[in-house]
Amino acid sequence: MKKIVIGNWKLNLDHLEAIQLLQKLNYSLDVNIEDKIDILLAPSHTSLRSLQTIVDADSLKIQISSQDVSAYTEGAYTGEVSAMQLQKLNITYSIIGHSERRLVFGESDELINLKVHNAVDNNLVPIVCFGEPEENRNSNNYLPYLLNQVNLAIKGLRKDKVNEIIFAYEPIWAIGTGKVASVENTIEVLSAVKKEISNKPFYDEEKTRFIYGGSVSPTNASELLNTKIIDGVLVGGASLDTDKFVQIIKSIKL
Ligand code: 13P
Repeated sequence: MKKIVIGNWKLNLDHLEAIQLLQKLNYSLDVNIEDKIDILLAPSHTSLRSLQTIVDADSLKIQISSQDVSAYTEGAYTGEVSAMQLQKLNITYSIIGHSERRLVFGESDELINLKVHNAVDNNLVPIVCFGEPEENRNSNNYLPYLLNQVNLAIKGLRKDKVNEIIFAYEPIWAIGTGKVASVENTIEVLSAVKKEISNKPFYDEEKTRFIYGGSVSPTNASELLNTKIIDGVLVGGASLDTDKFVQIIKSIKL
């Protein structure tokens, strides 16, 4: 399985800074490394067009993802950006259900499920995030909680519509805290999710990826990324620093 490294820039950088960071990253990467590793950047909506224009014009192999997508297709939904609008920009991925969307913006499992359907209907690959809060981890009840979150996010997905899907385990207690989940924790969760998903009609062993996010850094990336079941990482803070992001990418043993 081709590994994937995704930089989630969150609410950082204006479009000019985003262009600079994309170009710096492109110059810092080994030639053709993107043939062996999928490298994605998820900037704010305002930078999507600028970055995708550069990617298309210069035939870069770095790929662009949105950080979110609307559950609705069109109409009176002020502030929303639809999957179709993203697809028209040649954007091919969208993060959906990030814990910051769930917690800060009150996104429900039902809303996230609608977003996943809309993404898939418009040929966007959903990067479906799920993760438990610290209380839940401490109560040792996290596996049923996580499986339920995953099942609700993908409810009703039809086999013929799903080309590829990425499941991102992001324990809430590990996001932006410097506390990374242990490789054993991550293997336990991703194995359970993989087992659950492998019964679904759309599961494709060659294409469905299972990744980890939460305080990924150059220090812990190698262990995570060189573990077989972990197909990649979703990086927040460290993706804003090109040197750190490149070190994370380079830690993959090819
Ligand atoms: P940090 O890498 O900053 O912990 O963020 C993780 C994350 O939320 C990526 O989506």
